[in-house]
Amino acid sequence: MAEKIGVLISEADVDKRVAEMGAKISEDYAGKEVHLICVLKGGVFFMCELAKRITIPVSLDFMSVSSYGNETSSSGVVKLSKDLDENLEGKDVIVVEDIVDSGRTLSYLLELFEQRNPKSLRLCTLLDKPSRRVVKDLKVDYCGFAIPDHFVVGYGLDYAQKYRNLPYIGIVEETVDN
Ligand code: IMP
Ligand code: MG
Repeated sequence: MAEKIGVLISEADVDKRVAEMGAKISEDYAGKEVHLICVLKGGVFFMCELAKRITIPVSLDFMSVSSYGNETSSSGVVKLSKDLDENLEGKDVIVVEDIVDSGRTLSYLLELFEQRNPKSLRLCTLLDKPSRRVVKDLKVDYCGFAIPDHFVVGYGLDYAQKYRNLPYIGIVEETVDN
């Protein structure tokens, strides 16, 4: 089986938007430091590119979660498989995600991080599928692109662990037999 991948957002457009987001964060947090938290594995490409575009001091940490669901939707039951290495006390924290879909994963994580007393806590996502939202009160502070309800891959996003390394955002268009 092989999938055909169409381009939804080109590499040039993603790069341009990530640069804008980095500039906006640098401006909003001018004179401060930001602590970026990457949600593995999907968020890793975006976080690295974003961090390179931020001009104020940046520190990084990683967290790994998996949700008990099938491949294309999350169940809302989140399993923490790697916690952060550092505490969040007094830090200006930005959680960096690849995509917000139902919002269940982020809603769980933001609640968890809030209990660790950061000075501030914001959410930054490359992609958002607002039409799929289940957690209606989830606040997305920085969003790269709002997209329609397609299953997308690339720039960290996977389909059965494949396609994370695509430098653009693609859509899985069809499955064909080899
Ligand atoms: P949520 O808890 O439903 O918001 O799910 C968020 C997580 O589901 C993301 O961090 C992704 O890992 C995964 N996900 C949601 N939509 C897509 C998609 O279109 N492509 C790849 N992964 C997705
Ligand atoms: Mg993710």
